Amino acid sequence: MPERRPCVNELSHSPLAPENLACDNRYKGTTEAFLVFACTNQQAHTAPMANEKLGIWLVGACGNVATTATLGLVALHKRLAPTLGLVSELPEFSQLPLVPWDQLVIGGHDIRKPQVLSTATRLTEERVVPRELLDQCHDELLAAESRIRPGVANQSGEAIRQIADVHLPDEQSTTPRELIERLKGDLKEFVAQNRLRGAVVVNVASTEPLFDAELPTSWPEFAMLLDRPGTLVAASTIYAIAALELGLPFVNFTPSVGAALPAVEDLAKRKKTCHAGQDGKTGETLMKTVLAPMFAQRHLKVQSWVGHNIFGNLDGRILDNPANRESKVATKDRVLANTLGYDPQTLVSIEFIESMGDWKTAWDHVHFRGFLGTFMTLQFTWQGCDSALAAPLVLDLARLIDVAASQGQTGVVAAFAPFFKRPLGTSEHDFSKQHRALVEWADAITDCAND
Ligand SMILES: NC(=O)c1ccc[n+]([C@@H]2O[C@H](COP(=O)([O-])OP(=O)(O)OC[C@H]3O[C@@H](n4cnc5c(N)ncnc54)[C@H](O)[C@@H]3O)[C@@H](O)[C@H]2O)c1
Repeated sequence: MPERRPCVNELSHSPLAPENLACDNRYKGTTEAFLVFACTNQQAHTAPMANEKLGIWLVGACGNVATTATLGLVALHKRLAPTLGLVSELPEFSQLPLVPWDQLVIGGHDIRKPQVLSTATRLTEERVVPRELLDQCHDELLAAESRIRPGVANQSGEAIRQIADVHLPDEQSTTPRELIERLKGDLKEFVAQNRLRGAVVVNVASTEPLFDAELPTSWPEFAMLLDRPGTLVAASTIYAIAALELGLPFVNFTPSVGAALPAVEDLAKRKKTCHAGQDGKTGETLMKTVLAPMFAQRHLKVQSWVGHNIFGNLDGRILDNPANRESKVATKDRVLANTLGYDPQTLVSIEFIESMGDWKTAWDHVHFRGFLGTFMTLQFTWQGCDSALAAPLVLDLARLIDVAASQGQTGVVAAFAPFFKRPLGTSEHDFSKQHRALVEWADAITDCAND
């Protein structure tokens, strides 16, 4: 007999231990495969049932990543595209109660007027998506565009405010609470109008400047400040609070602060819902978290690691501003010391080169020492299409956090670490260890269902 793996709710060791996770066999034996688990935190988010649709609410819905995810979802639904690039389609996750592609509906917020179709058209010109795919998905993209509502941009910095073309509330005279209630209204309307069983909120908006205001660490104290006009709260945190207060899971695919504040983690637990982040790991940093463990395991000492990144999309334009770039460099730069156990000299540069569009080139130069102190060099060049790398991960995270929430998992989901440059809830950066932990998380859920 193979040894029984512990259920997710029996795992006590961090980072896999999801507190308050409820595995309930009441529904064992029902014909509804998705009803195997009963969720104890039924609010806006309920356990998946056949033919019940789930919403994905994208913050930054008109951007490149959001548009590629929206187009990709329609293409998957219509079986016009292969499932390449989607982690949730790997065999190791085939037993999870993942929402099917045809049961997902996309809506979202943006601070620019709805323009999914024009973004998609530009992406065809940049060879990110094939033109014929856009033609075949045109009507569904138009429908997704009609579900976009104006967002907020508190503490987002000048570079972001400059691209906005919707009315942005004045931060000094509006309370964060008023904004949160407006965003919650949009989410509730989205769920009701589309007859959804719930929604997950994924932040794919432009990167905000670093946020370092001193805020209370408990939710009740923080919540009181939200009623005061002029309280400094970043837009990404306002979106996170709106989602979590409704019991909806929140994913932060950006380096912005989002839910990465103790008080917001406290809120997620109180509302018995979950969140994950931070900053999608799609290219150069993914390579770092694969290669750095190799240097460590071969006892090769990295002296310096230099990474130059050039790309030309709107994300690149925003990151060209030093205040916004600081957030990105901070998430890109922290992986090496953790994996290697020492701090080599590092340099990360991000340059906006307009002609590159959505295509990114990263050139990395790794200088290291081996036996007898001999100096050697590894260089690699990563040429990736930013949105084609990121969009499938956004869809994966939406499906996976839906499973986590449906299981009653609360607070940060550390098992989603392989998706992020700065994973919340764990200090593990080694990609293969992160992937193994994700598979263990999935196995524990599957075993629980089979018990
Ligand atoms: N593409 C990747 O590989 C990758 C990897 C990791 C993280 N990211 C992050 O994902 C985010 C999106 O990337 P992208 O290439 O789609 O950028 P993008 O510039 O194409 O899209 C961002 C969108 O967010 C909107 N926006 C900005 N501030 C907003 C706010 N406060 N509320 C609502 N909408 C807002 C913009 O109008 C724009 O439509 C960025 O933060 C980027 O750093 C991308």
